[in-house]
Amino acid sequence: MSDKLPPNFLAESLNRIQPSPTIAITGKARDLKAAGRDVIGLAAGEPDFDTPDNIKEAAIAAIRSGQTKYTAVEGIPELRAAISAKFKRENGLDYAPAQTFVAPGGKMIIYTALMATLNPGDEVIVPAPYWVSYPDIVLLGGGKPVIVETKIEDGFRLTPEALERAITPRTKWLIFNQPGNPTGACYTLERLRALTEVLLRHPQVWVLTDDMYEHLVFGGFKFHTVAQAEPRLYDRTLTMNGVSKAYAMTGWRIGYCGAPEPLIRAMAKLQSQSVSGASSISQWASVEALSGPQDFIPRFQTIFEERRDLVVSMLNQARGIECPTPRGAFYVYPSIRKLIGGRAPSGRTIATDEDFARELLESEGAAVVHGAAFGLSPFFRVSYATSNALLEEACRRIQRFCGDLR
Ligand SMILES: Cc1ncc(COP(=O)(O)O)c(C=O)c1O
Repeated sequence: MSDKLPPNFLAESLNRIQPSPTIAITGKARDLKAAGRDVIGLAAGEPDFDTPDNIKEAAIAAIRSGQTKYTAVEGIPELRAAISAKFKRENGLDYAPAQTFVAPGGKMIIYTALMATLNPGDEVIVPAPYWVSYPDIVLLGGGKPVIVETKIEDGFRLTPEALERAITPRTKWLIFNQPGNPTGACYTLERLRALTEVLLRHPQVWVLTDDMYEHLVFGGFKFHTVAQAEPRLYDRTLTMNGVSKAYAMTGWRIGYCGAPEPLIRAMAKLQSQSVSGASSISQWASVEALSGPQDFIPRFQTIFEERRDLVVSMLNQARGIECPTPRGAFYVYPSIRKLIGGRAPSGRTIATDEDFARELLESEGAAVVHGAAFGLSPFFRVSYATSNALLEEACRRIQRFCGDLR
């Protein structure tokens, strides 16, 4: 059998995108481990905790009671009611159940929203460093990602001036993510309002706010979402969230949003001709996640904050690394500006952050993701969603690797 497809068989749109680099590095680390190497993975973006028992029990009860059929495309009414209540309780936002929508994962909310709205030439502002999927989903949808680089000196936050400069008459969306992946950047209410002031002047721009890490904030940081910070933007905001990170439910595949009803209807039309809807069982589990006890959220926060402090402190002791202290998510994004041009133990020169990540993995068995994958170099991302013991060992290896660079 031939291992080649016929010419022109694959969609041209596939040439516009890359396979996910984070998944590629996690795969490489897995292969090295399988080959007997001692590898510590700091690349994966998921909590290492197990899904809380009350949520698992709700899923088991759903299976036992026969909740195993197709559901409404937009989500079961019970989950849409729970989402509506969550937005009111936690964000002070009024989204009626008909303004909510459920998809198989937060990523699918973004995908469906962009596919349902982008036309050729539409511009989408994506602050960098960005979560790897944003630009590629825009490209798949025929839109044009407009990448706006942020600076370490600004805490990797988008500034009002940079936002203003990036907006054109073709701008359809700003994708806004905080706490941010890969930097953990957060915005105070004041900083948010400086951005919403700009957006108010440009009525053609909608905001897709990705609040996936809302509950992973530290040191008393108070999270606000965009439509809450500026109610006048409510009519052109899609507020996206999900259960993956806050409830350690990455494998259950449930994301949700609140948005103006005509947009919800457009997304439902598309979802009805693609995945049909999210898993019935996961939807029932998510009703429990959003409506049941929330006591493990502060417990998760405390553990992640301790880990953040450990990693920031140890990385800042590594020669040539500058690691800011983020206020949210479970990532740090240190700079390796001072290490570029160094020679690794293999004899190869570190010319890029990709070289740094590859040499670190090969010589010390620590898997991190290079900054270029997120659109801002020279940096790397560490996910600290793993045990303190492994984090300490990984940071020791990074310290040794940096110390050995000549
Ligand atoms: C910023 C951000 N948004 C969305 C997602 C996707 O979440 P889900 O697993 O629910 O599709 C992720 C997952 O890594 C993320 O980091």
